[in-house]
Amino acid sequence: MRDLIARKRAQPGDDILSELIAAEEEGQRLTEDELVAMVFLLVIAGFETTLHLITNGARTLIEHPDQLERLRADPELWGSAVEEIVRYRGPIHGTKLQYAAEDVTLHGETISRGSPVMPVLGAANHDPRAFEKPEEFDIARSPNHHLGFGFGPHFCLGRQLALMETRVALEKIFARNPDLRLAVPASEIEIAKMPGWHRHVSLPVTLG
Ligand code: HEM
Repeated sequence: MRDLIARKRAQPGDDILSELIAAEEEGQRLTEDELVAMVFLLVIAGFETTLHLITNGARTLIEHPDQLERLRADPELWGSAVEEIVRYRGPIHGTKLQYAAEDVTLHGETISRGSPVMPVLGAANHDPRAFEKPEEFDIARSPNHHLGFGFGPHFCLGRQLALMETRVALEKIFARNPDLRLAVPASEIEIAKMPGWHRHVSLPVTLG
């Protein structure tokens, strides 16, 4: 990474690393360590998340053949279908730790100033106070104000890219393999024990 940074410093290109190197605010630029940390964040935040959204989406559509039929009949619905996959079975279920800036009472629980909090996005996305029939997977759900990409100042930087990549991947997978199905009973599919994530250890499928 340091070699690449040195090369891009010498010869900037039309790419995100060159932009980060050139970025300047009040005369300050990112240090080399900050650049390396930012690139790692982009690679991890931008790769594993989308990979697992694609997997979660493939499983969800296989398990809801009626919704898959609707998509085949009306491909315009792919946009809202991917949003619904993020709500129904998104890969990120918790944010990074956040710290209360002041004492706050929510639903009778007091969180004191400075305490760490991890909002559970997965629970919010299935909250019956926010979503009608939250356990129903509806590819045309509207409105769909889910929190699968977070909320506020740390809202996901890569939302648009993730939605586009997932749409392209799932559309192609199901077009090329119209009989895609699970290769093992659903009860045998293992979900990784990883706090904050909802991801499969593997998803065995039969291409048909
Ligand atoms: C399915 C795909 C994705 C999901 C579900 C997702 C989800 C999230 C969530 C929930 C957060 C907020 C974390 C928090 O508040 O602690 C976040 C932040 C972030 N995401 Fe994503 N993400 C996805 C894809 C991507 C992609 C493709 C990129 C970049 C190419 C990306 C870059 C980032 C970055 C840089 C942040 C941190 C923003 C900050 O702290 O200011 N994400 N993402």
